[in-house]
Amino acid sequence: MKRGLSPGLKELCRRCVEQRAELEGFSLPPLKQGSKEEQLARLYSKAKGCKGCALSLSRTNLVFGEGCPGAEVVFVGEAPGREEDIQGRPFVGPAGKLLTKMIESIGMKRGEVYIANVLKCRPPENRDPLAQEKEKCVHWLRTQLAIVKPRVIFALGTFAAQALLETDSTISELRGRVFGLEQMKLVPSYHPAALLYHPEWKRRSWEDLKLLRKTLDEARQGPR
Ligand code: URA
Repeated sequence: MKRGLSPGLKELCRRCVEQRAELEGFSLPPLKQGSKEEQLARLYSKAKGCKGCALSLSRTNLVFGEGCPGAEVVFVGEAPGREEDIQGRPFVGPAGKLLTKMIESIGMKRGEVYIANVLKCRPPENRDPLAQEKEKCVHWLRTQLAIVKPRVIFALGTFAAQALLETDSTISELRGRVFGLEQMKLVPSYHPAALLYHPEWKRRSWEDLKLLRKTLDEARQGPR
């Protein structure tokens, strides 16, 4: 008689593999059980305790991400800043206010999209994230994307676009184009914090937002 592993043993194996993935910084396909909301909640409860890099020692809160679990569009930033670290929520500072306006400019509401960062913890004094921090952390974002399965990702700034597309190209080289990422589309653009320093880039940012809207409308013709 063929006998499989007991449910308890299966769960134990799954947890061992997950812990290994977390330590080594690779991503696992999400456990498909439950709604997207439940899957995200389970992922968050694991991420909360992450000690994958030294940023875990200086964080006030881990900033997992928030929004609609079934969102058609995910906005991806770099890393939490001071205000995000305090509140445990992404894009709640000055750059976040601009991001909300950007979302609304294409006829959407902040509550109907999903917002997350590549790094889940704030780099001290908002310094640039290190390559090894990205390597240790990006699997959380990839798993969030695998759960939400948006039609389109809007990558905010060089760091997010490079991390997701696994390229060294700069944002000025990448923006204005649409990339395929698994079953999703990715539109790279400027980070809202960069737009606050360089308002002259807002015109190009608006072009990118229109490209996002067009890409979403086209993607809606196909299956999800
Ligand atoms: N900048 C980011 O990249 N992410 C945030 O959450 C806030 C500012």
